[in-house]
Amino acid sequence: MSARTSLTIVLAAGEGTRMRSSLPKVLHRVAGETLLAHVLKAAPGGDGAALAVVIGPDHAAVAEEAQRVRPQAETFVQSERLGTAHAVLAARAALERDADDVLIAFGDTPLISAETFAQLRQPLAQGAALVVLGFRPNDPTGYGRLLVENGALVAIREHADASEQERAIGLCNAGLMAIRGDVALSILERIGNANAKGEYYLTDAIAIVRERGLQSIVVEADEDEVRGINTKAQLAEAEAVMQARLRRAALDAGVTMIAPETVFLAADTVFGKDVTIEPFVVIGERVSIGDGAVIHAFSHLAQAVVGKDASVGPYARLRPGTLLGDGAKIGNFVETKAAQIDAGAKVNHLTYIGDAHIGSKANIGAGTITCNYDGYGKHKTEIGAGAFVGSNTSLVAPVKIGAGAYVGSGSVITREVPDDALALERAEQSVREGWAKRYRDAKTRAKSKDKSHRA
Ligand code: UD1
Ligand code: CA
Repeated sequence: MSARTSLTIVLAAGEGTRMRSSLPKVLHRVAGETLLAHVLKAAPGGDGAALAVVIGPDHAAVAEEAQRVRPQAETFVQSERLGTAHAVLAARAALERDADDVLIAFGDTPLISAETFAQLRQPLAQGAALVVLGFRPNDPTGYGRLLVENGALVAIREHADASEQERAIGLCNAGLMAIRGDVALSILERIGNANAKGEYYLTDAIAIVRERGLQSIVVEADEDEVRGINTKAQLAEAEAVMQARLRRAALDAGVTMIAPETVFLAADTVFGKDVTIEPFVVIGERVSIGDGAVIHAFSHLAQAVVGKDASVGPYARLRPGTLLGDGAKIGNFVETKAAQIDAGAKVNHLTYIGDAHIGSKANIGAGTITCNYDGYGKHKTEIGAGAFVGSNTSLVAPVKIGAGAYVGSGSVITREVPDDALALERAEQSVREGWAKRYRDAKTRAKSKDKSHRA
């Protein structure tokens, strides 16, 4: 997009005390993804786009998350929490590499979009020294107020330092800022801490820019995009905003949802064409749903791949590592985990399939359990293509059921059952014959009843 290079510094050193949690604030999740991951994914990426994350001491988990999402991101530790400008300077080594645009974002604003980052950079290319993202919150309490004189941004006043008159200003600092790289470091170094909190405020940069005869500019954003998260209530509000966006995007992509407001999606859900999701479905992270698949009501999926035209639920739980082949069927009260279930296989009722591979077109009867855990370790169950496992069977892993094998109801299988190539054919035939016989009998009964009536 832009030929200009960039450095995005994400501030994430806060403890997040108001979350009342032992987890660092930026590792809380919205739509299945950490707050930090949302911000890092929206930040400029690719060639010429450097990333720095400022973390608190003892926050190794935050550094790991940054590495996972953006392997090229550098992390810097702010050992004492002395304010937002002080936090930015923790990344001094990155700042000294002279990127064209320096972007500063907060790790606790997960709804920010890549477009907004781009918008913020534009005025820098046209000569502005600093660009601030502004917004008009319903309740401006706590936010820094943007002081505008004759159309020019002259300063940001933090709530704690603001006069009554200044507190009446509705236009506030959203927290995202862009500074021209050639002046960034010298401006940041000039910031002092003579204020109500005794902190180094990043927002003081605006007054310094003005003193130097340079220009600061405000770009306005929607409140929903810049919600900062400090409490669990705000986390839940952000989740609601994100879910509304994801449902809308899924509908726009052609997913059919009868009651989208009851369906919960993850930020990374992948949909094929003509997917249907019934009400009250929860989809966790890393789920992909193939063309024509139907997810019936009250199902829960996470880290699962659903093949084309597959059917899941109602009341099914696909746990991590589930791989459903095309046209496979998972019915009610079935739980799967680390299970590959090949094309056309059926697991229709009340079953647990864990650490297993089920071949194509196998039929797993109601109440079948893969006993994958013996109290010490997990073991695998292999079920061959076309096998028939009768109802209420316990498969004591490690164990193998051959292709086409037939397992009677109520079995406890502890040893390998060999392949039976002809069994499937026989089974299908007997089902067909059984059905035909019952039909003939019923017809005969109906006829004789008819006669007895007439008699
Ligand atoms: C800040 C802004 C305020 C703005 C508001 C928007 C300043 C001085 N104030 O206020 O104008 O309206 O955000 O939400 O910038 N952080 C560190 N190290 C520190 C201090 C903060 O990493 O020493 C990080 C925090 O983890 C957080 C971010 O910086 O991600 C913002 O800090 P916070 O204390 O929440 O600032 P606010 O008081 O909300
Ligand atoms: Ca904040």
